[in-house]
Amino acid sequence: MSLEWLQTDLTTWRPSAQYDLVTSAFMHSPVDFPREAILRRAVSAVAPGGRLLVVGHGGFPPMSEHVHDTEIPPFPTPDEVLASLDLPTGWIVEANALIERTVKWRDEKDVVLVDTVLRVRRVD
Ligand SMILES: C[S@@+](CC[C@H](N)C(=O)[O-])C[C@H]1O[C@@H](n2cnc3c(N)ncnc32)[C@H](O)[C@@H]1O
Repeated sequence: MSLEWLQTDLTTWRPSAQYDLVTSAFMHSPVDFPREAILRRAVSAVAPGGRLLVVGHGGFPPMSEHVHDTEIPPFPTPDEVLASLDLPTGWIVEANALIERTVKWRDEKDVVLVDTVLRVRRVD
């Protein structure tokens, strides 16, 4: 197994190879950002038999100043992420969930965060 680190602008990145695992973690941006197009390019980087794992925020953390901000579009649900991938036939959904996890906020209070988790596998 080898690992290559690449620092690049995802808005212009094009995959040049295919991998057994392609993963995207919390790829959100407050600026205009072609997230769905980038994820579709990530789909094209998955080798036959490989997987794409997309983890994201399911909502703002309860202590966020944005938690009641109706001006900000909601984070996509796992179903919306799945639909945006526009997968061809030959893929199966292995996980499609909202998952809660408890973290320490500033090393003190327990807060519950919600993540979206989508894992799909290319079967052929
Ligand atoms: C919410 S952070 C998540 C970071 C990391 N994946 C993690 O899970 O901790 C979003 C990241 O996307 C990066 N980012 C924003 N726009 C980008 C772009 N056009 N190309 C590459 N990275 C970008 C930001 O610099 C930031 O590090």
